[in-house]
Order: sequence, then C-alpha cells, then structure tokens
Amino acid sequence: MSIHALLTQAFLNRKAFLQQCQQEQTDCYRIFHGVVDGDDMSGLNIDRYGETWLIQTFQQPLLAADLAAVTDFLLAIDDYPVIYNDRSSNNSRVMNELTEAAEQQAQASLIVHELGIQYTSKLRHDGQDPLLFLDMRAGRRYVKEKSAGKTVLNLFSYTCGIGIAAAVGGASQVMNIDFSSFALAAGHTNAALNGVENNSHFVQSDAFPALSQLAGLKVPSRRGRTLPYYPKLKAQQFDLVFLDPPRYAKSAFGNVNLENDYQSLFKPAMLATKDQGTIVACNNVAKVERDLWFKSLVRCVEKQGRVVLESHWIDIDTDFPSFDGNHPLKMVALKIK
Ligand SMILES: C[S@@+](CC[C@H](N)C(=O)[O-])C[C@H]1O[C@@H](n2cnc3c(N)ncnc32)[C@H](O)[C@@H]1O
Repeated sequence: MSIHALLTQAFLNRKAFLQQCQQEQTDCYRIFHGVVDGDDMSGLNIDRYGETWLIQTFQQPLLAADLAAVTDFLLAIDDYPVIYNDRSSNNSRVMNELTEAAEQQAQASLIVHELGIQYTSKLRHDGQDPLLFLDMRAGRRYVKEKSAGKTVLNLFSYTCGIGIAAAVGGASQVMNIDFSSFALAAGHTNAALNGVENNSHFVQSDAFPALSQLAGLKVPSRRGRTLPYYPKLKAQQFDLVFLDPPRYAKSAFGNVNLENDYQSLFKPAMLATKDQGTIVACNNVAKVERDLWFKSLVRCVEKQGRVVLESHWIDIDTDFPSFDGNHPLKMVALKIK
C-alpha cells in the first residue's frame, strides 16, 4: 500500500475516536501507529499535539518523498506546523536537523488539552518525549473519574499527568514522586495551568526509599555502600495508588525491572494503599503475559494477608490499536482490603 493509502486507512479507522476526542476536549492523540497501521512503515508514528503535528521514526528515517507525502496529508487535515523527529538511531535520540523556523517551533512550549485538562508539551528538548505520553490517556481518564475526595499517590510520575488528572478530578491530596527535577518542573507547570497547586505535592526522590518509607518498611540498603540523600517521608496510606514505572531503570537503591521483578515495587505500593483502597498497576513490557502478570499481583496481595475485592482492566484508547486486543501496555485497577 502507498503511504497515502496507509494514512487514509488509519484516519478512517479513528473516525469514532476523533469524535470522542472532540466531545472530551482532547486535542492530542495518535493518528498513525506504525506497529499496527504501518505495513512496511512500522517504525513511523504520527501524533497531533494541540496545534502541531509530530512525525517520528524509530527504525529508519523517512525518504524525502515519503516525508513530503505525509506532510501533505497532514496539512490537508489541518494547516498546523509539522515537526519531524527522526529517532531511528542512538537510544531514540532525535538525530535530524530542521529548518530554523521549524526548530523554533519544535522547541516552543505548547499547551495541549486532554479531557478538558491543560498540559505543557515540547516536541524537542533535552529529554526525549513530548512531556505527555498519549497512550496513558485511559489511565488519566480513570483517575480523573475516580479521585473525588481521595488521597492519591502517583509513583514514577514523570510530568505528573496522572496526578494532575486526579487533582482536577477533585482529589483532596496528590503526592507525585519522581527523581527527575526536569519532569517535576513540568508537573509544577501543569498544576499551575489547571489551578490545582493547592492539592498537588511534588516529591523529588528515588521511588525505592520513598515507597519503603510510605509503606512503613526499612529503606533498602546495599551492603557496604553509602546511600545517596533521599527526602524523609512519614508512613502513609492512600485511597488510590498509581504505579507506572519504566520498563527498566537502575538506581543506587534498586533496579526497576518490569519483566523479572514487578513485585519489589508492587509490594510496597500495595502496602501504601488503604483498606478498601485501589491500586492501579501498569506494565508496558509486551512479552509479560497479561493473565500470568495479573495472577502474580493477586498472589503478592494475598501473601501480605490482604484480599483483592474487585479488579478492573483499563483499556488503552483506540488511537493506539493492537493486533489482537493484547496491548503491550497493561493497566489493571485492584480494589483491596
Ligand atoms: C515511563 S515514565 C513514567 C510515566 C508516567 N507514569 C506518566 O504517566 O507519564 C518513567 C519515569 O520514571 C522515573 N524514574 C525512573 N526510575 C526512577 C526511580 N528509581 N525513582 C524515581 N523515579 C524514577 C523517570 O524519571 C521517568 O519520569
């Protein structure tokens, strides 16, 4: 199929979804998800971020003729600036140069809207992604709907999208935890944009010591090594805990490894969840099988003498289609006592 035909098909497939976006006041979404929409363009993703189009490639750069065809297609939908980030080499870093005008546009702070909430975004900066992961929209919708009057813990918060959705949804208190000052600075901006500074808290900390302290456990130490500084926190349980770690990350306190060791994060996160509270667990490793992972979560809850009262899978929105309904990003909400 030609690139134009692939784009047309992807756009038609999203007709109902795009209407939903309009109703929900959402102007940032994926219009082409290469892995499923792409045929031989599986490394190509195209997103709308507010009033800018973002084309990204992750396997090989687009040929000039293909880039021109994609650009024409996008401009025919809406005449917004088009930014192209080729991330096909070197740890997904952006490699290609833009014209001066496009570079300025790419580095400008944007405000995008999702579910009526405002978020800051930037299509090129020192980090890698545009400050809001669009596939997490379903998680943000869930917490926005479920947070009224609740205390919420947002772990591995990045730019605090989940925490802001909770605060806008009426949470009484939201604690966002991430070790990146850059990510939390964007979180502060997001809170200010939506007028939820009063119920939003930002803790710059490694998640391992933070979680251990909240759960009332000993902070893990590595024999013979002095631990880096971490802020002291009191033990506390929350009505709603959201756990969305990266697939793999190393720190002085422990390793995040969603394929082989989800429990070392899930156990303290569950202990920081109140009786009758809800923990939302996320795992974006495709080869982790959904039912086996779910059973391992239930086992971990029961090992602590607690019980899963209800479970609810949060389905990813259809702008991120999957082949067989088994999306690599799995999200499940467990109500526990
Ligand atoms: C995939 S993002 C999480 C996305 C986020 N939940 C959202 O809704 O957008 C991963 C985040 O984990 C943070 N991170 C990785 N390892 C960490 C650690 N040991 N302690 C605290 N934050 C960590 C990174 O700084 C990054 O912001």
